[in-house]
Amino acid sequence: MNVREVSLVFICILARVDAKQPNIVFILADDLGWNDVGYHGSEIRTPHVDRLSAQGVRLEGYYVQPLCTPSRNQLMTGRYQIHTGLQHQIIWPCQPYCVPLDERLLPQILRDAGYNTHMVGKWHLGMFQRDCLPTRRGFQSFFGYLTGSEDYYTHHRCYFISPLNITRCALDLRDGEDVTTRYTGRYSTELFTQRAADIIHQHTPDKPLFLYLALQAVHGPMQVPERYVTPYSFIKDKLRREYAGMVSVMDEAVGNVSKALQDAGLWNNTVLVFSTGTVI
Ligand SMILES: *[C@@H]1O[C@H](CO)[C@@H](O)[C@H](O)[C@H]1NC(C)=O
Ligand SMILES: *[C@@H]1O[C@H](CO)[C@@H](O)[C@H](O)[C@H]1NC(C)=O
Ligand SMILES: *[C@@H]1O[C@H](CO)[C@@H](O)[C@H](O)[C@H]1NC(C)=O
Repeated sequence: MNVREVSLVFICILARVDAKQPNIVFILADDLGWNDVGYHGSEIRTPHVDRLSAQGVRLEGYYVQPLCTPSRNQLMTGRYQIHTGLQHQIIWPCQPYCVPLDERLLPQILRDAGYNTHMVGKWHLGMFQRDCLPTRRGFQSFFGYLTGSEDYYTHHRCYFISPLNITRCALDLRDGEDVTTRYTGRYSTELFTQRAADIIHQHTPDKPLFLYLALQAVHGPMQVPERYVTPYSFIKDKLRREYAGMVSVMDEAVGNVSKALQDAGLWNNTVLVFSTGTVI
């Protein structure tokens, strides 16, 4: 961890928040760095994040954990990871543990407060038994993956099992609790953004909405549709160039979600939070 455990976040409290409970839309990027947004002077362009954060609050001294599982544990439990046993790096695919089942997670608390709760994207808080799954931990719906990283198109996760000296790959894309094969070949940032927009459009405002969109972007592997990379031909380093393209899709995702909230008439009573989950 030679990079600052640093992050960026903005909270937009938009137009006017009614006395009634606001909708909460939390977009979590993965492995997005400090110098990777336009408003911090990056060569990577993030017009949506720049524009939205200019209307909201930019937290410039805000920190997250440097690894996925501990960071997400904090977000969901409100507790430092030494209190939940999740301080030992990340949960690897074959490790049989998860956030302790006696922890009450954020979506459970919000659900008790009357919210509709939905999650799209990366979980990474354990899956060795069904009781660990997002749908058993307060989310009414889940569409996404349970491990820490995978292929953006095939949604396969490969894992080297060292005692056996073998690599095994498996599909890790779930609609609810079960694996789905319907979306093979669809780039996850677009897929997850579309599902988030669908949830927003289907939401009926008799209840407040809590939507947790934990994007795969911009975690490795470096994969992105070429059209997003083309504008960055001036970046000499190939990995940085591809990464810049991935950040551009992520920024577009933020724009699309905010547009969906506007189109659905929810914007005026929504707290939109954008944060990175980790920086390694
Ligand atoms: C592990 O598998 C690889 C590929 O099959 C082989 O080359 C290597 O010798 C194996 N290593 C051990 C320790 O068995
Ligand atoms: C954003 O919306 C546009 C228009 O519907 C679509 O073409 C694009 O793929 C979407 N971007 C993402 C990241 O989902
Ligand atoms: C949102 O609030 C603004 C300012 O109060 C108002 O002009 C606008 O009509 C509202 N939009 C919706 C969709 O409620």
